[in-house]
Amino acid sequence: MHANSSRKPHIDTLAVQAGRLEDAHGAVVTPIYQASTFDYPAGDRPLVYTRYGNNPTQIAVQERITALEGARAALILSSGMAALSTAILTVCQAGDHVVAAPELYGGTHRLLDNELPGWGIKVSYAADHGPEAWEAVIKPNTKLFLWEAITNPLVRVADGEALAGLARDRGVVSLVDATFATPINQRPAEFGVDLVMHSATKYLGGHADLIGGVLAGDDGLIERATRMLASLGGSADPHAVFLLERGIKTLALRMARHNENGRAISEYLASHPKIERVFYPTLADHPDRDVAARVLSGAGGVVAFIPRATPAEAQRIVERFEWIRLAPSLGGVESLVSMPAMTSHRHLTSDQRAQRGMPDQTVRLALGVEAAEDLIDDLDRALTS
Ligand SMILES: Cc1ncc(COP(=O)(O)O)c(C=O)c1O
Repeated sequence: MHANSSRKPHIDTLAVQAGRLEDAHGAVVTPIYQASTFDYPAGDRPLVYTRYGNNPTQIAVQERITALEGARAALILSSGMAALSTAILTVCQAGDHVVAAPELYGGTHRLLDNELPGWGIKVSYAADHGPEAWEAVIKPNTKLFLWEAITNPLVRVADGEALAGLARDRGVVSLVDATFATPINQRPAEFGVDLVMHSATKYLGGHADLIGGVLAGDDGLIERATRMLASLGGSADPHAVFLLERGIKTLALRMARHNENGRAISEYLASHPKIERVFYPTLADHPDRDVAARVLSGAGGVVAFIPRATPAEAQRIVERFEWIRLAPSLGGVESLVSMPAMTSHRHLTSDQRAQRGMPDQTVRLALGVEAAEDLIDDLDRALTS
């Protein structure tokens, strides 16, 4: 990467430097090419048009993401859902079949359950996170495996290595939504996943001020996804791409703090008498602790817990927080709290939520980068008053 070194640079350095656009004026920051169209190209240069994903601001940041993921190519899109729908339609056509993880982001479930059948694409859910359950539902027309690196809100951790291996053996494309992990905690392309997707709205952007999505992976697949993007039109605005790049520069710093906060606060909650159960992948009683130790280098900032309280009492607890704001989403510098029964899992009945291990009093923390001690004080006040 660097002219004088054969050593691969650290991801912290790539987050700041990779894909740097050499601007004619020497700007240190990637300029925002806020232009929809560009001069008709001379020679064999391709036509540049911002919907095609080849605006210079988009290209620069795509190169940075490619380097961070250890992938061959990357594409930035207008949202996480644009990235996901574009990826699925790149790989699948009418008559094809998808195998998906049992727990997925609610918007992903809606896309798979409400839209794909109308497009002639069938979906089966694996019964659990292990490869045997995936093998059991593969069909001859299975084209895609889809899972999340870390799920919401119970932070289950998929064995991405095993699933990618199974997909490869069976000629199936693997697609992982690695939003909760980020390339700091997991680089799925390095263990053979074909396509990595992120809601860049979350940790990559990092400041709750943009909506964006990312695909990274194999160059042939990204080339096909880029053509699909041009047809579907979910391209990212250059200004949002600029904000995304600004966020990515501090991704390694922020994730180190998110990881620290996740660990400290999950341990604090696990020892609290008013808490029945805490979910965080480094805790001893987490069902995927061993898998997490192998496939993640940090577990991120999402922690879920079940207080010894009724749902109404739990609601009053979350309303008592002073620093931690009651809002959905995650991945920004501010800590947020939400109750899955009212946000991500509101489409299920109480019984269905309980069956999935998240009774209605379950609380999800999306920890930011504040000092753990202050967040613990906030939790302590709310739990004891
Ligand atoms: C895991 C995951 N994937 C995808 C999405 C969708 O992303 P976006 O809101 O950027 O479309 C979200 C949003 O919450 C998410 O949490």
